[in-house]
Amino acid sequence: VIGVPDSSTDLVLEVTDAAGLHQLREPLMDVYRDAYADKLDHPFFTEARMWERLEAYATRDGFTLVLAYEGGELVGYALGNTFMAGSRWGQGMITDVAPALLVEDGKRTFGFNYIMVRHTYRRRGIAKALHDKLIASRHEVRACLLVLPENVAARSAYLTWGWYKIGDLRPFDDAPVYDAMLLDLKH
Ligand SMILES: CC(C)(COP(=O)(O)OP(=O)(O)OC[C@H]1O[C@@H](n2cnc3c(N)ncnc32)[C@H](O)[C@@H]1OP(=O)(O)O)[C@@H](O)C(=O)NCCC(=O)NCCS
Repeated sequence: VIGVPDSSTDLVLEVTDAAGLHQLREPLMDVYRDAYADKLDHPFFTEARMWERLEAYATRDGFTLVLAYEGGELVGYALGNTFMAGSRWGQGMITDVAPALLVEDGKRTFGFNYIMVRHTYRRRGIAKALHDKLIASRHEVRACLLVLPENVAARSAYLTWGWYKIGDLRPFDDAPVYDAMLLDLKH
């Protein structure tokens, strides 16, 4: 049952790992169905494909999942992992950028994979809280993400939170063109 947001209920954040992800499959997919309701028909965004991606991310080094609860209900989450040495994440870059910017040594970059919040809980700073908690857990030098230029909510959030665009990137042949963004992590 999805509760009605109540400003008197406190937000609780929890940091977990691959084991946590596997235990929370149903609530995680429930939030996904809500947050990505308008995309579920697309083959890339079916629940099955999403769960496969989450499981794959969870096998990688540095995998971290941050959960947001209100009134005991999971209302959002964010996750990512460290890019492995030699990762070719930048190979779909369309913009001409310095090749050194795309080199990975296994410690340099945190891949910020997903952030989502249930519709009825949006615009209350929950994504910001998830983001800050996830970023605070990192030891990498920088973080990287891809966002669709038309995703106004996410794109504005990232720009507000210090991320900057380095170029246009098509991650695989039949994928759309994303904005590739970086965030410098200060330790
Ligand atoms: C993007 C998303 C996670 C934001 O969640 P949220 O909890 O509403 O975000 P916050 O309340 O922390 O807002 C942070 C900032 O984002 C920006 N923002 C959020 N929603 C916005 C909107 N609809 N329009 C414009 N800016 C928006 C604002 O700058 C906002 O700060 P402000 O409220 O102080 O103005 C949420 O909209 C979502 O789940 N979207 C679907 C999943 C998705 O697209 N994820 C990102 C994939 S790259």
